[in-house]
Amino acid sequence: MSLKKVELMSDKHIYWHKGNITKADRNQMNEHRSCLLWLTGLSAAGKSTVANKVDELLFENGIHAYVLDGDNIRHGLNNNLGFSPQDRKENIRRIGEVAKLFVDAGIIVMAAFISPYREDRDAVREIFTNGEFFEIYLKCPVEICEQRDPKGNYKKARQGVIKNYTGISAPYEEPLHPELIIDTDKYSVDDSVRVILDCLIKNDIIRLR
Ligand code: ADX
Repeated sequence: MSLKKVELMSDKHIYWHKGNITKADRNQMNEHRSCLLWLTGLSAAGKSTVANKVDELLFENGIHAYVLDGDNIRHGLNNNLGFSPQDRKENIRRIGEVAKLFVDAGIIVMAAFISPYREDRDAVREIFTNGEFFEIYLKCPVEICEQRDPKGNYKKARQGVIKNYTGISAPYEEPLHPELIIDTDKYSVDDSVRVILDCLIKNDIIRLR
């Protein structure tokens, strides 16, 4: 925690209470490490589909994992947030903090959020230690996402019914140095999942049975 943050917290008379069981203890018991896989990309690029398929495969291998998904989180925890740049920033900040708790609890988290702003994604990276945060860019041309349009949102965005729609009337800032780029217009879901699992194995997070 930065010095500034610690000072701010002591102003509020709240102090960090360290638990007795560490993340390392939990990782050892689970026989795998925990980390955050941050899936970013346009709506309909395949983030949720790929994340849920990775989740399924990890589950089958006895690995503790969980998906945090944009649409779902906006039903509950973040149901007071919209799609202005400030609200998206807060959306991503909260998810970053929630993901940090999950990773501390020994879980591999897949976060599937458009997260269109580089600065917001980098701020999440900042709160993780090296080797715990993987930015995975699910890259797909907006024309293809628009053809897929599983929720009919692109159509509504074109009609002006949905304002500030990412890729249509709001920006998407591509990652500059993501750990992985997966072209989901060229890779099948299974191939995309394989690339992510290979990344987890290569980085010593998991071993498959
Ligand atoms: S983010 O930009 O703040 O990261 P998030 O991933 O939580 O977005 O939510 C994106 C989902 O919200 C999309 O898949 C889409 O279904 C829905 N949505 C509704 N309005 C918008 C909008 N203006 N821009 C993007 N997605 C929107």
